Amino acid sequence: MCGIVGFIGKEQAAPIILEGLAKLEYRGYDSAGVAVYDGESIKVEKAMGRLKVLEEMTHYGSTLPGTIGIGHTRWATHGQPSNINAHPHLNAKGTISVVHNGIIENYLQLKNRLIRHGYEFQSETDTEVVAQMLDYYYSGDPLEDIVKVLHRIEGSFSLGIIFSEQPDAIYAVRKSSPLIVGKSAEGSFIASDVPAILKYTRKVYYLGENEVAKLTCDDVTFYDADGEQIEKEPVEIKWDAEAAEKGGYEHFMLKEIYEEPKAVRETLMPRIKDDRIEIEELKLTDEEIRKIPKIHIVACGSAYHTGVTAKYVFEGMGRIPVDVDIASEFRYRDPLLSEEDLVIVISQSGETADTLEALRIAHKKGCKVLGIINVLGSSISREADMVMYTWAGPEISVATTKAYSAQLAALYLLALKFSYVKGAISDQELAAYIDDLKRLPDQIELLLGGKERIQRFANRYVAAKDVFFIGRGIDYAISLEGSLKLKEISYVHSEAYAAGELKHGTISLIEEGTLVAAVLTQKDLYQKTMSNIVEVKARGAFVLAVTNEGNTEIEKNADYVIYIPETNKYFANSLAIIPLQLFGYYVSVGKGYDVDHPRNLAKSVTVE
Ligand code: F6R
Repeated sequence: MCGIVGFIGKEQAAPIILEGLAKLEYRGYDSAGVAVYDGESIKVEKAMGRLKVLEEMTHYGSTLPGTIGIGHTRWATHGQPSNINAHPHLNAKGTISVVHNGIIENYLQLKNRLIRHGYEFQSETDTEVVAQMLDYYYSGDPLEDIVKVLHRIEGSFSLGIIFSEQPDAIYAVRKSSPLIVGKSAEGSFIASDVPAILKYTRKVYYLGENEVAKLTCDDVTFYDADGEQIEKEPVEIKWDAEAAEKGGYEHFMLKEIYEEPKAVRETLMPRIKDDRIEIEELKLTDEEIRKIPKIHIVACGSAYHTGVTAKYVFEGMGRIPVDVDIASEFRYRDPLLSEEDLVIVISQSGETADTLEALRIAHKKGCKVLGIINVLGSSISREADMVMYTWAGPEISVATTKAYSAQLAALYLLALKFSYVKGAISDQELAAYIDDLKRLPDQIELLLGGKERIQRFANRYVAAKDVFFIGRGIDYAISLEGSLKLKEISYVHSEAYAAGELKHGTISLIEEGTLVAAVLTQKDLYQKTMSNIVEVKARGAFVLAVTNEGNTEIEKNADYVIYIPETNKYFANSLAIIPLQLFGYYVSVGKGYDVDHPRNLAKSVTVE
């Protein structure tokens, strides 16, 4: 996954592009580059490493004069991070420059064909093929040439292209990778995501599948895959620009953890009306809900972990069978789906390639797909039959926190709605669950108030080598996410285990001082997990326990205890995850790592 920004207008392009790329660094940050047409030719500057290297090299863009340009921040897929592989890429004459996000799947075949025609390649990337193909088809009419290339490349791509022989326009193309077009008094913009251009405009156009845009200083025009002009309506972005900035916090991750009460409140409250759950986006009648025999939840990473939690909630509360799948597994195992089943895909970005493909497979099998999505207008939100948005606002830190919490909130609402409609819970039970839901945002806030204690504990464990997270039932689902949060940003090896599974192998790894984080929010499983705590203690483990207020006798066995406020068993994840997110955050800070940009990762994974 990579970030693209392009500008044509009345101002200098490079500073605007670099500023925009800085907002997209969450998408990739192993190298960056900018190409600007300076009135005579296209000048390109690239640099390995974080964007600031390029910013300093170009004096924040001032060494690249010109009012039309494209830029890129890269997360390597084809070819290692290097100056040569960094975008923009050029044709041999240097007259066509291309930036690309996604993967050209048939690039080798195309590259070999071009080599047979005498073309030479500089980089190992799939992107250079596009620049060289445009050269091969070059007719002087960029739109016609782009359409030809569009019909020959396969895979996922959003592209920004400039031609030195037609320096009055930027061209943009999109297929299965995000790209937006913005318009303001200063000029026209392309970007992979809204925060990159929010400073200049709130009026954006979402490019559709296989659509092409031509941007000039004063105008934007759209075309379909055959080059026929089409009309598009702009969308008004209502986000607060501040929401995409750090707002005084040291890292986006901490800011976003602090935004969790708001994200949960805004996801829940508009859908709770007079003690009833009303999910407008759910275009299913009660009769249709009653007929759903099974739900399949498909997602990746943390979003998958919310699905694991949801399985316990739907099945426990509503006796509704749920399968949960990792999208990259689901798509290749020819899943057994019946047309009456409902498929729920969960994704913050709405762009995750495997999740998008899972949605398409579900459609092929005749199922309706409900998306739980955070990014408006994203690919999954456009292809799903129904979209329930999580109102978490822009999430910038690579490690998800507030979107995860908002996804849980959306899933609770669905589980309540389905359980009630199917007659599995009474009016009184529904009312009690709704009361618990309404209290969640304040309870999260309360937990955030205890952050210093977690910070102190994290500082003691900065040097930890291995950490095990254990729990049963929903506590196991919480452990999965707690463990992922820690390892992805602090690079500490950590594993989540169903507590009862530990003695089938993993317990042999426990030695003097090994940190075991035990989650015990489920009353009926409390004693069982307590026995597992005793077992690891007997082998020398240091135990951090996260449990409900009032369970003070745990202090006999656990070395450090974090209490969470009382809620019902189904919603405990929303509370127990907060100290675990903070723990991961503070271990990473303690190690001096780049919390918001963990190595090798990217915010939205648009490649499989
Ligand atoms: C972990 C994390 C990832 C994402 C996963 C799915 O902190 O953020 O595991 O949850 O890549 O991404 P989305 O939700 O955008 O589909």
